[in-house]
Amino acid sequence: MNKQELIDILSDITKNDWLFKEADRVRHENVGDEVHLRGLIEFSNICKRQCKYCGLRSPNKDVERYRILKDELLLYAKNAVNLGYKTLVLQSGEDDYYDTDKMVEIIREIKKFDVALTLSIGEKTYDEYKAFKDAGADRYLLRIETTDQNLYEKMHPNASFENRQRCLYDLKSLGFETGSGCLVGLPNQTVESLADDILFFKELNADMIGIGPFIPHAQTPLKDAQKGDFWLALKVMALTRLNLPDINIPATTAMETLNPNGRLIALQSGANVVMPNVTSTEYRAKYEIYPGKICINDAPEKCRGCIEAKIKSIGRTISKEKGFRTGSQK
Ligand code: SAM
Ligand code: SF4
Ligand code: FES
Repeated sequence: MNKQELIDILSDITKNDWLFKEADRVRHENVGDEVHLRGLIEFSNICKRQCKYCGLRSPNKDVERYRILKDELLLYAKNAVNLGYKTLVLQSGEDDYYDTDKMVEIIREIKKFDVALTLSIGEKTYDEYKAFKDAGADRYLLRIETTDQNLYEKMHPNASFENRQRCLYDLKSLGFETGSGCLVGLPNQTVESLADDILFFKELNADMIGIGPFIPHAQTPLKDAQKGDFWLALKVMALTRLNLPDINIPATTAMETLNPNGRLIALQSGANVVMPNVTSTEYRAKYEIYPGKICINDAPEKCRGCIEAKIKSIGRTISKEKGFRTGSQK
């Protein structure tokens, strides 16, 4: 689709039902009815950055900070593998405690479990990304957040849009399955820029795209901003499926936070991935990027059973494979 077609669909609510059905059909034809589960380990909520929307930003003194060190992290990884997860995702703030050597050691240990490994630990240099890849990491998630450069730079003090893009192209060139995505509903974000976001995903040839509605957090500069619209976020996701038919698209936690059935609705509107948390409940509430996060009191076993029942209730099955992008099986 070209930019004008994307804008027209995004701006027209009478197209919603058609779009969601079409994205569901394209998902079924290209990636089938299996849902891939990715076990998410939020291993540090310490962050040096100041993203204006995020509760983990460094100036927020009200959050109790934690780091999960290697041995404990490996226990969660092992438990997740025993629960049947075939992919693990390590996510954190930009925490320099985990230098390249520490990350390489963790990556090597986790890869012994015969799982696919995704990292989501922010902006790094080419050499750092290369060291992670050489150690065995398979995938990397780094949302562009918005392709509106002016808005990007307003939302990210002391950060540059060029560097964000550089990171994504470095990851691609190193052979990572590269994930990106955007926030929907940032203050002053336009429908035109959301259309540009989708065109950027296509240009990057992203392998995974996560779309999340923006949810204001009380301890951030955006505390009084309006929250993102669930249905608009769903439309950006569905259009991403139509334009990149064979990629992996998660039904995001932020969608479920805004709509109690958000993940199932997303799975029926183009998504084929869910990322349940596999750490102990001790840490979940402290990883408060936005308020109202789901599952903060639920153990990994509970989430695994819960999501399986939900997926089965809509006639879908849980994949037993690692779930690489179709055609790039490793
Ligand atoms: N620090 C890494 C990074 O920023 O890429 C990974 C962790 S960060 C918490 C993961 C994602 O959370 C970000 O890409 C951002 O889109 C999302 N996020 C942060 N604050 C949010 C908010 N208030 N509402 C919705 N999503 C948010
Ligand atoms: Fe840090 Fe990521 Fe939150 Fe930005 S979005 S403050 S980089 S954890
Ligand atoms: Fe955590 Fe449902 S996925 S309780």
